[in-house]
Amino acid sequence: MIQFLINGELRSEQQLDPNVTVLDYLREHAGKPGTKEGCGSGDCGACTVVVGELAGEPGRERIRYRTLNSCLTFVAALHGKQLITVEDLRHQGKLHQVQQAMVDCHGSQCGFCTPGFVMSLFALQKGSDGYDKAQTMEALAGNLCRCTGYRPIIDAAEQACCNRQPDQFDAAEADTVAKLKAIAPRETAELNSGDKRCLLPLTAADLAELYSANPQARLLAGGTDLALEVTQFHRELPVMIYVGHIAEMKRIEVSASHIEIGAAAPLSDCYAVLSNEYPDFGELLHRFASLQIRNQGTLGGNIANASPIGDAPPLLIALGAQIVLRKGSQSRTLPLEDYFLDYKVTARQDGEFIEKILVPRAKTNQEFRAYKVSKRLDDDISAVCAAINLTLVDGTVREARIAFGGMAAIPKRASACEQALTGAAWYPGSIEQACEALAEDFTPLSDFRASQEYRLLAAQNLLRRCFLELYSPEVKTRVTAYV
Ligand code: FES
Ligand code: FES
Repeated sequence: MIQFLINGELRSEQQLDPNVTVLDYLREHAGKPGTKEGCGSGDCGACTVVVGELAGEPGRERIRYRTLNSCLTFVAALHGKQLITVEDLRHQGKLHQVQQAMVDCHGSQCGFCTPGFVMSLFALQKGSDGYDKAQTMEALAGNLCRCTGYRPIIDAAEQACCNRQPDQFDAAEADTVAKLKAIAPRETAELNSGDKRCLLPLTAADLAELYSANPQARLLAGGTDLALEVTQFHRELPVMIYVGHIAEMKRIEVSASHIEIGAAAPLSDCYAVLSNEYPDFGELLHRFASLQIRNQGTLGGNIANASPIGDAPPLLIALGAQIVLRKGSQSRTLPLEDYFLDYKVTARQDGEFIEKILVPRAKTNQEFRAYKVSKRLDDDISAVCAAINLTLVDGTVREARIAFGGMAAIPKRASACEQALTGAAWYPGSIEQACEALAEDFTPLSDFRASQEYRLLAAQNLLRRCFLELYSPEVKTRVTAYV
């Protein structure tokens, strides 16, 4: 059985198809049609809801509110959490401050996108101490509006954040904390309907056991990719194992040599530590996907699905990251570059799962740059993603690890390019030789995102751009590359 709150009301579900998304659950089971479906694929934000979770030390817990795309979230992921929808904001006959701000600033026309925007504004207001334009743009980047235009909505964000007043959720926080503690998962839970099951273990050891017994099961972390099989391809997933309650797989620890990231840690939780160590990693995470997706999607999931256009793998390969794979009680550590064998084919064995990712700490003389080329700045998929990791001593390249996404069937190192640079002076002539070598490394595909010629030229130009940024730091303008 799973248990969660809708606003303050306890819901218990035992026999429910685990393939039901939160969006469908709200609209078809809970009688709450305020949340809308636009794309059903995590692109438009119309389905945005807010999930509250316990955060903070025992005895001093608070509620942390985050936005999610309900169209990509299976109901099992709500276990032990509080779900807040647009219906829950109006209180005692009055609109919530963020709703009133949308009215005052004329932030809605046809209204289809409005519930999603309102929920993004609600989470923004809850998580900020005042108005910050950059934070607002980030919070709203995953919500699309086809008719109002964004300026009135940004005005509404400013009004809501500048004039924030305590609301019914603040008043009920202690009560909500107590309710969430009472339903906190304490043992492996299960949601099922007929032959369809979703298991929710609490430890990596339990996961290992369940996965060995059910190697055909699909592992569910954020579900931002897996849910598309249901919402876009109308498939059914008969057995899932949800890893989002496994504390040790959500942990992020920093040692002298590595950043150790649990495979189930949401991307938004990885941001602080990775951007602190490698600022370009943080910059790329901003453009990785919308905030809703980053709140759900995990680093482990981005690796496990082995997409040639996943943004994290090229960066992690260039940094020399390793993954720890576990099967039963056995673990093995593998360089990430050896995990990807062919298109969507990996070195993972049946019943084996990624437990954690080990990212080496930055070293003296190391320069790391990452670039994403996509048609839109936000909420878009890369045509080319480049990660360049160099050890530069006295103007000479001592070591080069360079990896690309979008250039081959797998995220892949540019070995010929690395060879051309290693030992060479960091100088225009060497860079041009390295650019020529890129043509030996890759024969990219043409598709709707970019042509083969474009991809190769973009990859070469990103290397030239890296050269200019490091050779003459004043040209490091951080201008985003567009197709
Ligand atoms: Fe578009 Fe969910 S319906 S993001
Ligand atoms: Fe019509 Fe935003 S108000 S889509």
